[in-house]
Amino acid sequence: MAKPVKNFSCTACAASFNKWSGRCDACGEWNTISEDKGISAGPPSKSLGAKRGATVALTDLSTEESPPPRSLSGIGELDRVLGGGLVPASAILVGGDPGIGKSTLLLQGAAHFARKGLKTIYVSGEEASAQVRMRAQRLGLADAPVKLAAETNLRNILTMLETERPDLAIIDSIQTMWADNVESAPGSVSQVRAAAHELTSFAKRRGVSVVLVGHVTKEGQIAGPRVVEHMVDTVLYFEGERGHQFRILRSVKNRFGPADEIGVFEMTGAGLAEVTNPSALFLSERGGPAAGSVVFAGIEGTRPLLVELQALVAPSPHSQARRAVVGWDSGRLAMILAVLEARCGIPFAGLDVYLNVAGGMKITEPAADLAVAAALLSAREDVALPPETVVFGEISLSGGLRPASQTENRLKEAQKLGFTSAIAPSGGKPVGVSGITLNTMGDLTNFVGEIFGAG
Ligand code: TYD
Ligand code: MG
Repeated sequence: MAKPVKNFSCTACAASFNKWSGRCDACGEWNTISEDKGISAGPPSKSLGAKRGATVALTDLSTEESPPPRSLSGIGELDRVLGGGLVPASAILVGGDPGIGKSTLLLQGAAHFARKGLKTIYVSGEEASAQVRMRAQRLGLADAPVKLAAETNLRNILTMLETERPDLAIIDSIQTMWADNVESAPGSVSQVRAAAHELTSFAKRRGVSVVLVGHVTKEGQIAGPRVVEHMVDTVLYFEGERGHQFRILRSVKNRFGPADEIGVFEMTGAGLAEVTNPSALFLSERGGPAAGSVVFAGIEGTRPLLVELQALVAPSPHSQARRAVVGWDSGRLAMILAVLEARCGIPFAGLDVYLNVAGGMKITEPAADLAVAAALLSAREDVALPPETVVFGEISLSGGLRPASQTENRLKEAQKLGFTSAIAPSGGKPVGVSGITLNTMGDLTNFVGEIFGAG
């Protein structure tokens, strides 16, 4: 008889292996590999019925039937990140660190959708209904027509959803859900996968939108939200620094709208408040012109966003100089340092380099390169950039500068916030925005010479 094949998967990145090891080869995390316990035999799934394998010609699909309209919660920042409202029968994952505010966000979202007429159920596997009610009271939402359930058994939840037939069901959190036909413990990769699979297929079958909440975990035994990313239509992450009140809801995958869209919120005593002018918020703590501080005119999703980059460069007391980055990619920082050294002859050897994106924001756009280079040079030379200036542009390995997308939107946002000049790559479509002096340059050497007066 053949030996049963064992399967192991990583709880952090969901990679599969046929043997256990201490470290995941795929994502490099330690102690995250655990054995998948098989799903025990049960009655065959109903979805494998008569319709199995049936096809329909593309041309037979009626074009008149327009898709059902999206529902708006009225929380503008949430609706935009969803791609312009909630799509019926969609499955959405909302991931984030524990305590960042996922339950608060979704309870507020549930209450707003319910007030707009959507039949909404909030299922909590972590808190008793009385606790959820208390939270709703604190948020001033106690009168919203939301139904609450405190339940972790998946079968009970599906039965309840089947009878209630809501328009929207929120499952907080997917790690607490437990399918009784899967042998392993709640929170394990197999349980989380099984629960997410059942809930997302229920969403499609019954036309219910389902929101799954997933905690980002560092412990080995609990599966993280990445395990279910591929099963859902939309993946949102709720980010922010604990010490800051800003929270960013970021879409990393969206079948029904643009990815990379962000919504900005502020955690207040009465829940999450929308931030409709995030640039003003991210720049609010900025003092006067200082060496090492540069304002980057970025684009997040469909919106321009100004953020302050701060750099500190100091002689290193260690044999190996330190490079520390918060809010940006450390590989990209190494690249900028290498280009500055190789193409402009400005060495950073023996110097500690620290880079911080103010306000707890994370930037991924390559157009931040030039602003980072400017902050590093400004810190190294101890020279502040001209006041009221924004910087953007991508740097190539040859030291050339590549024009960024949406230059006009970046300049308009800068002008709106009182900036008077911008430094950007030359080339691309010429644009002008009144009130902004645009200073364009072709390469990094050019930039260094013009701004810092040296080569
Ligand atoms: P929560 O939504 O429970 O986080 P998650 O579901 O992601 O684990 O939010 C927890 C934090 O939010 C908690 O530290 C308290 C804070 N908070 C406020 O500051 N104001 C509020 O109105 C609420 C409800 C929570
Ligand atoms: Mg919670």
